[in-house]
Amino acid sequence: MKFNFSNKNINEINDEAIVLGVFKDDISSKQDLIENVDLSSILNLGDFSGKKKQLMLLYNVEGMETKRLLLVGLGKKENFKSSIARSVSAIAAKNLRSKGISSFSILQMGEFSRETAEGVILGLYTFDELKKASTDNNEIKNVTFIGGGDFNTGIVIAEAQVIARRLTELPANIATPTYVSEEIQKIFKPMDNTDIKIHEEKWALDRKMNSFLSVAAGSDQPAKFAEIKYYGTDKSEKPIILAGKGITFDTGGISLKGGAGMGLMRGDMGGAAAVIGILYAVSKLKLNINVIGLTPLTENMPSGKATKPSDVVFASNGKSIEIDNTDAEGRLILADALVYADEFKPHTVIDIATLTGAMGVALGEHYTGSFVRSDELWQELEHAGIQSDEKLWRMPLDKKYKKQLKSTLADLKNVGGRPAGSVTAAMFLSEFTETKRWAHLDIAGTAWVTSAGDITIKGMTGVPVRALTQFIINSC
Ligand code: BES
Ligand code: MN
Ligand code: ZN
Repeated sequence: MKFNFSNKNINEINDEAIVLGVFKDDISSKQDLIENVDLSSILNLGDFSGKKKQLMLLYNVEGMETKRLLLVGLGKKENFKSSIARSVSAIAAKNLRSKGISSFSILQMGEFSRETAEGVILGLYTFDELKKASTDNNEIKNVTFIGGGDFNTGIVIAEAQVIARRLTELPANIATPTYVSEEIQKIFKPMDNTDIKIHEEKWALDRKMNSFLSVAAGSDQPAKFAEIKYYGTDKSEKPIILAGKGITFDTGGISLKGGAGMGLMRGDMGGAAAVIGILYAVSKLKLNINVIGLTPLTENMPSGKATKPSDVVFASNGKSIEIDNTDAEGRLILADALVYADEFKPHTVIDIATLTGAMGVALGEHYTGSFVRSDELWQELEHAGIQSDEKLWRMPLDKKYKKQLKSTLADLKNVGGRPAGSVTAAMFLSEFTETKRWAHLDIAGTAWVTSAGDITIKGMTGVPVRALTQFIINSC
């Protein structure tokens, strides 16, 4: 898809279609834009009121070069907000695509230029690359954004989320740790402000990352640990560190999962994919801040070499872990990533992980469970979640839950039983970072959706690329 920007008047644009948002019961305010259409007479016919998400296509409007004018309802002006701007842009774009149109122009929805761009790109996102022939979907090749708004930020953030969606969606025979590492190299090659290191297992061994390596032990695919460094300001400024769970496939290991729905465990690297997407956005937007992305990447497989329940390993901070259940592997790989993160003396550490099924049970697919050590950091994250419409909900990090992790063999065990499974997982992670401004985001419920929405197809969502990119923008 190619993007263009124009400041032309609506009547001078020559495209296949133009999209114009109109508020409910306020159509006349757009009258000056399209002077040759008698909007109020259309309103009187009752076909179109500007109700939220309503569409009406007008043809051959006198005085307009463009033959199609798609009106999209924004709903009542007083209720209008950024998330509606995203939705209606997506709905309009998809409607034009379904008509076989390949190029259109769009005006920003209300005052939201960024969200208009995001809605168009996220709404049109599909995952067809593994299908032989072109699919039922016609392709939009050109989008022109009309008016002087900041569409570019929205384009970059949406592209970043598309990167995350795609990497998460790709099946595990393709998206191995090696493949994901190569994709990272490819994505950041054109950027001159990032420094990429793909560490091998030997590096992890030298750093005594035995918790991470205990998960990789059962897999024939070599594990990788990617480090993506972006310096947008003086190197002495403390970085924000993002650590993403990168399990390219989670079988459960020796504590093998049941078969039903296991294929979705290709998405168990959604945290890593989000980190990659966010670093893309930060680097593309050249934000005035330092950010480091860390992604331990491995499969979790059963085999003769796999870790067994009750095996004890020593993590890189020296703590011993009884691996009571090999299916609680995400916290094992993140433990060593968090220890490593602390070495950078970070300003803030945020880990992102499809960590516990219990999180999806608790909050479903609309809110990401957030475990945050600092109240101040929580307020910043909550705000960014609202701004980006990727909502976060705070969960407890209370040492009362710690005793569920007591082990007879080691300093702690990696599971805490059924009660509050997401909380004990977070408590486990808290043993591996000292950073005050630390947050753990459990995206197990939000990383994929079971039915399509306005700006998501059924499948991987790329959450929380928008929320955390917004958080970083706010931190600059
Ligand atoms: N990747 C899963 C968590 C998960 C489950 C994410 C469903 C998305 C949807 C994680 O590695 C896991 O298996 N967790 C276990 C932990 C348990 C053994 C304490 C779980 O949630 O069952
Ligand atoms: Mn697991
Ligand atoms: Zn997992």
